[in-house]
Amino acid sequence: MYKISELAEKVGLSRTALLYYEKLKLITGRRLENGYRVYSELDLQRVRLIQQLHLGGLTLKECKVCLESKIDKALVKQRLKALDEEIEQKQQSRILLAAFVGEGDLKSWHESLDKLAPDAHLDWLKTQGFSDKEALHLKWLSKDMNDHDVYMQDFMKVFQTLERWGPGSEDDTKHALSLIPTAPSSILEIGCGKGLATNVLAQFSQAQITAIDNEQPALDRLAKRFEEQELSARLEICCTNMAELPFSNESFDLIWSEGSAYIIGIEKALMLWKPILKKQGYLMMSDLVWKTNSPSEQSTEFWNHEYPDIQTVQTRIKQIEKAGYQVIANFPQSKGAWLNYYGPLRERLNELESEMANSTAFKDMKNEVNMCTEFSDEFGYHMFILVKI
Ligand SMILES: C[S@@+](CC[C@H](N)C(=O)[O-])C[C@H]1O[C@@H](n2cnc3c(N)ncnc32)[C@H](O)[C@@H]1O
Repeated sequence: MYKISELAEKVGLSRTALLYYEKLKLITGRRLENGYRVYSELDLQRVRLIQQLHLGGLTLKECKVCLESKIDKALVKQRLKALDEEIEQKQQSRILLAAFVGEGDLKSWHESLDKLAPDAHLDWLKTQGFSDKEALHLKWLSKDMNDHDVYMQDFMKVFQTLERWGPGSEDDTKHALSLIPTAPSSILEIGCGKGLATNVLAQFSQAQITAIDNEQPALDRLAKRFEEQELSARLEICCTNMAELPFSNESFDLIWSEGSAYIIGIEKALMLWKPILKKQGYLMMSDLVWKTNSPSEQSTEFWNHEYPDIQTVQTRIKQIEKAGYQVIANFPQSKGAWLNYYGPLRERLNELESEMANSTAFKDMKNEVNMCTEFSDEFGYHMFILVKI
C-alpha cells in the first residue's frame, strides 16, 4: 500500500494531480482507520499506464474510456497519426541538434535543411566560417561540414584535367545562339568554366563578352584559349559569385548560362539576373529536366538527393513566364553534349581508380556517371532561350 505522497513520488506526479485522477475515478484510494488515504499496487500500475496513454495524446477522460469500456478505434487511430507526425518532427529536431555538434548523418541533414530552408542553410554555413563559395560547394557537393576540405580537394583533382565541367557541345551552343533574334553586342556568360561555350559565342558573334566564374584556374584557362586565338580584346573575365554580380542594371544584351543557374536555383537566378539585362534582352540557360513523367525509382531517388528542384520542361516554362520572361525557343541538348561530359569524366575516374577508390567524392562521381549512363533516357539538359518582358 502507498500513501498518496509515496505514490506521487513513484510516478512523478503531484498530489493534486493524483487527487484529480481519483476524482475522475481513474484510481480509488482506500481510507485507513487513522484517516490516511492509501493506494494499491494496481493503482500504481494504472497510473503508469494512464501516463503512457496521456503522453500519446489522449486526454485523461479518453484514457478512462480506453481502460474501462470499449476502445474508440477511430479516436485512437487519429491520435496515432498525430503521434507519428510528432515523432517525425522530433526526429528531425534531433538530427538538427546532433548535426550542430558534428554527430549523425550530415549528408542527409544538409539535404533536408536545404529543402526546408535553403537560404537559412547557406547563411548558417557562413556563420560557421564557410565563404560564399565554400557554402555553395558544401550545399551541392560535399554535404559534409566536417570533411568538406578533403572532399573538395578530391573533387578538384578529378576535374582539374577535364575541359568540360558540364554537359554541352559546340553545336548546341551554336544552335542556341542562332535562335537569338538580334545580334548581341554585349554578352555576359555566367559559370563559364574553362570557356568552351565562350569560345563559340566569340566565334559566332561580334559581341564584347564578359565571362564570370568563381574558379580562377578555369578563368585562366579561358583567357589563354582567347589569347591563342587573338580574341582577348573582346573578352573580360571576372572571378565572382553569380549570386552577387557586380554589374549595373541594363548592362547586357544577352546572358548565357550553360549548366550553371541551378547552383543558386533557377527561380532565384531568373530573378537576380533580370535587372542586369537590357530592355528586351535575352537569356539563354540550360537546365537538367525530366524527359519522362514517370521516372524510375532509381532516378527519382538519385535526383531527389542531387538536384531536388529538377522539373519537367513544362513546369520550368511556367516558372520562367512567372518570373517575367517569354520563352522564344527551347530544345533538348543533344546526346553528343551528354557524352562530351560523361565520357571524359568516366575515363578520368578509371585513371584515378587505384589512387582514389576510397574517396567519398570519387565514389559520388562514379555513382553519378553510372546513373547518368544507365538512365540517360529519363533526364537530360534542356536549352531555354528567353526574352525579358
Ligand atoms: C556545371 S559547371 C558548368 C561549366 C561550363 N558552363 C560548362 O558547361 O562547361 C558550373 C560552373 O559554375 C561555376 N560556379 C559554381 N558556383 C559558382 C558561383 N557561385 N558563382 C560563379 N560561378 C560558379 C563552377 O566553377 C563551374 O565552372
